[in-house]
Amino acid sequence: MAEPGLAVRRKSRPSSVRKRSRASAQPSAVCSPVARKRPSSGGEGPPTETPCSNDSEEDMFGDYDSFCGNDSLLAQVDDMEHKYLQDKNMDIKAAEHIILWNPQSGIHQKKQDHFSTSESMVVLKTDKDDAFQMNENEPVDSNQESTESILDDLPSSQLLYFEKMDELSSGSRISLVSERRNKCVNSSSDKIRSPSSFCPDAEHRNKPADFSSDSKCDLLKTESLKDHLKSAMTGNAKAQTLQVSKTKQLKEAVLSEEICVAKKTIESSSVDIGPFYGLPSKVKELFRQFRGIETLYEWQHDCLMLESLQQRKNLIYSLPTSGGKTLVAEIIILQELLCRQKDVLMILPYVAIVQEKVRGLSSFGIELGFLVEEYAGSKGRFPPIKRRKKKSLYIATIEKGHALVNSLIETERIDDLGLVVVDELHMLGEGSRGATLEITLAKILYTSKNTQIIGMSATLNNVGDLQKFLQAEYYTNNFRPVELKEYVKIRDTIYAVDSKTENGFTFSRLLNFKYSSNLEKADPDHIIALVTEVIPKYSCLIFCPTKKNCENVASMVCKYLKKDFRAHREKEKQDLIKNLKNIGNGSVCPVLKQTIPFGIAYHHSGLTNDERRSIEEAYSTGVLCLLACTATLAAGVNLPARRVILRAPYVASDFLKKNQYKQMIGRAGRAGIDSAGESILIVQEKDKHLVQDLVNSPLENCYSNLLLELTKGMQSCLLSLVGLKIAVTHEEVNSFMCSTLLSVQQHLLFKEKSLSEIIKDGLENLIEKGLLKRRISEDHNSKCTLTITPLGKATYKGSIDLAYCNLLYRELKKGLEGLILESNLHLLYLATPYDMTSNCSPDWMIYLRQFNQLSAAEQKVADIVGVPESFITKKASGQAIRKNMDSAVVNRLYLSFVLYTLLKETNIWSVSEKFNMSRGYVQNLLNSAASFASCVLHFCEARAKQLYNAGYKTLAHLANANPETLVKMIEHLSRRQAKQIVSSAKMLLSEKAEALQEEVEELLKVPTDIPGTY
Ligand SMILES: Nc1ncnc2c1ncn2[C@@H]1O[C@H](COP(=O)(O)OP(=O)(O)OP(=O)(O)O)[C@@H](O)[C@H]1O
Ligand SMILES: [Mg+2]
Repeated sequence: MAEPGLAVRRKSRPSSVRKRSRASAQPSAVCSPVARKRPSSGGEGPPTETPCSNDSEEDMFGDYDSFCGNDSLLAQVDDMEHKYLQDKNMDIKAAEHIILWNPQSGIHQKKQDHFSTSESMVVLKTDKDDAFQMNENEPVDSNQESTESILDDLPSSQLLYFEKMDELSSGSRISLVSERRNKCVNSSSDKIRSPSSFCPDAEHRNKPADFSSDSKCDLLKTESLKDHLKSAMTGNAKAQTLQVSKTKQLKEAVLSEEICVAKKTIESSSVDIGPFYGLPSKVKELFRQFRGIETLYEWQHDCLMLESLQQRKNLIYSLPTSGGKTLVAEIIILQELLCRQKDVLMILPYVAIVQEKVRGLSSFGIELGFLVEEYAGSKGRFPPIKRRKKKSLYIATIEKGHALVNSLIETERIDDLGLVVVDELHMLGEGSRGATLEITLAKILYTSKNTQIIGMSATLNNVGDLQKFLQAEYYTNNFRPVELKEYVKIRDTIYAVDSKTENGFTFSRLLNFKYSSNLEKADPDHIIALVTEVIPKYSCLIFCPTKKNCENVASMVCKYLKKDFRAHREKEKQDLIKNLKNIGNGSVCPVLKQTIPFGIAYHHSGLTNDERRSIEEAYSTGVLCLLACTATLAAGVNLPARRVILRAPYVASDFLKKNQYKQMIGRAGRAGIDSAGESILIVQEKDKHLVQDLVNSPLENCYSNLLLELTKGMQSCLLSLVGLKIAVTHEEVNSFMCSTLLSVQQHLLFKEKSLSEIIKDGLENLIEKGLLKRRISEDHNSKCTLTITPLGKATYKGSIDLAYCNLLYRELKKGLEGLILESNLHLLYLATPYDMTSNCSPDWMIYLRQFNQLSAAEQKVADIVGVPESFITKKASGQAIRKNMDSAVVNRLYLSFVLYTLLKETNIWSVSEKFNMSRGYVQNLLNSAASFASCVLHFCEARAKQLYNAGYKTLAHLANANPETLVKMIEHLSRRQAKQIVSSAKMLLSEKAEALQEEVEELLKVPTDIPGTY
């Protein structure tokens, strides 16, 4: 390693050691999902569009399992060894990345690797592995699919494969082999891949590597540390070969045959659609096995038989909550994957729901031979791997779905998408997420005439508009398998909601309770009386307006419950507390500690992901019988209840909307779980009339948000249209915009200007901002086209909110000129997401305390970004401040202090206490920062490309570059920046080598506690 590298690396050694050991101690708490598993670009060029910074507000719940990047020692050694052999551009990106985002000083040592070089590292390694795996079975189409098996490792269905194998081969499955099918076994057995072929790795992982000649040669040349380690480690591992039973083969043969029949049936658009809606009867069996569904509801059958569906027309269908909408969508999805052999995108509103769905459909993927790929939080690859045989079901959040569609359009693969299913279609009307969904669907409609779109929802009103937008047919039905009885409670009277009566309520009963005067004071709304009518035998949810209220209600209820409640499933409740203690590194929330013994918990975004998951599981299995939750749960995972209580008709301080109300009460009485369901809305006398309006009013209309959400809506849409070359002239943009919901609703949403004028203004605005440029063609017609500028490209590639792109650019530039590398603080500041600054209100005493603990160099960071010490001191002492400060900067710095403390301490609990923030918030900040950092990485990629094109293809090239030469070769690069690039590259390289060396030493150390030795 070049000696000068060490000159710029100041505290690298101790910090890298510390960080590593922390990572293994508490990975999920501290590490960036994006950084860990940031997908590589898939070969040439950068990814089409990066995953977005924030999936949603409900993403406050964040990601469960995104901390799983390939940071193994072997991969790192491999990377080091091949750094000079391989010619990939990701290293160079990394080098550039350090320039602005020195990964070594970012959020976490391990994460940073993935912000930068490990992307290429993963590719380099798996590409090679892939090559020899593929060689054994089939010729490799290296141009198109050289990276296929990289993702063969990743899709969720495959990750679940081994878990499922035991279960599946245990013989518990019901045999489907009939006499007729037996006949076709021989003829069809070669048409389908065996179950093990669904997971190539299963077969190959344990086989000796059969290197392709080139890679073999390379590796032999570098008889190396990695090989030693590899052989030493693999020598200890015994290979296990998967057995494929005869019965299994028979079943697969039957499946294959049925798929063929079904395929022909669909292709010929025959009315006879085969054994199970054109699908193998195994599908029916799987629904029985995995979901307990014996027969379809009548409406489900009718809907699947719709003429419009047979003709592959777009369809919107709407039924009450719990009506069984999902099953219909899933059958249509399977038809597309298996019979039409096309990929499918399923868009769901929240990360948690995507994850739940991935888990639910993975077993189908395994059994039926398609891949289930998760696009949520930090997961998802852009563009997706092009599969040769298996089809993919992409399950995505709204934002990731958009990024995926963009990447397919950019790589001209949008036609691979046979079907797009949107659950909760009413989300179209919800803020910036609605705008994103609208843009996504409009792009599909505009660019791919063969992609079918299916949308569903329980809460649609102005379906006509949506039908026009999606050019879709409509199906609706009032079916709900379990009756839902709606009540409101005013004082001690329960009224049934009855839309037929004049005021909407009819008397039902008086609430039967005996309260002491103390209890009456503590529980004036009689929540205890309401819940004890159902718990602990049945489950109950209480929706509360605020997070604090959830905790108060949970505490209050258990305070007055009889001790008998403790006896119910006591041991499991103790286990739950133990589990939470483990999750919290020895800490448990005192409220949960108090409430769980009574079978009660709260549920809101203040919980960490792991805590939330444990609580959800305990509730689903009946260990907990009562959850006090916020509205997020209604739109989140499927947690049904016998009784749903709405603590007040408010969400935070806003009066409840009809859609929200319907979603919340819809949790009551779920099919297959409850035989009845009821909801009770607690109403104060003063709100009585508002509630009458609420229950009697129709559902809210769903309106386009493209204009309301200007920067994330209209402007971002226009920018990406040009960036993706979907539309590059004013006329083309106009024509595209005609396929939006905004266009359908233009007469309702804006009157002063025409859509065309709005578009014109929007384009002008983007040109003024320096994001788009006009280009007049030189031919005879002098046609004016639009092109995207580097800043525009960076903005749309990084999915940066247009409101912040100029600010981000300025801050990065400023950072580049005076980046303080002594600690990570400056870089963390630059990775702190803007959108979290608006709802942050610093505690000034904490601000000052944290500031005082910084080193002099770190304090200089505050000064550089524009928050002087005097300001913080004055604020903390309550003095008036004349100077107008930018609160976005002040808050951003405060949040970067949180991240910095997290980096040093790793324990979310202690950090949240230090800053008086909920641990869920701290975790969300961490996840958002990781996502935002990856967005900024893509924002910065333009310079990386410049360097790469100039021949600086690896970190080593840059570390050894002459800054003067760089200045000459790279446009707009200052001398200072060039020096910074070189020194950053040196630092990264030397730190990486050092870290690897330490890891090697640690690994080779003889353990002192080997059993049987003294
Ligand atoms: N034919 C069926 N037979 C028995 N149970 C069914 C059937 N169809 C669906 N279900 C079950 O009904 C429950 C609710 O179904 P689902 O989640 O699809 O409802 P939904 O209409 O999507 O409701 P929401 O609007 O609340 O999302 C699920 O547990 C599902 O397994
Ligand atoms: Mg649903």
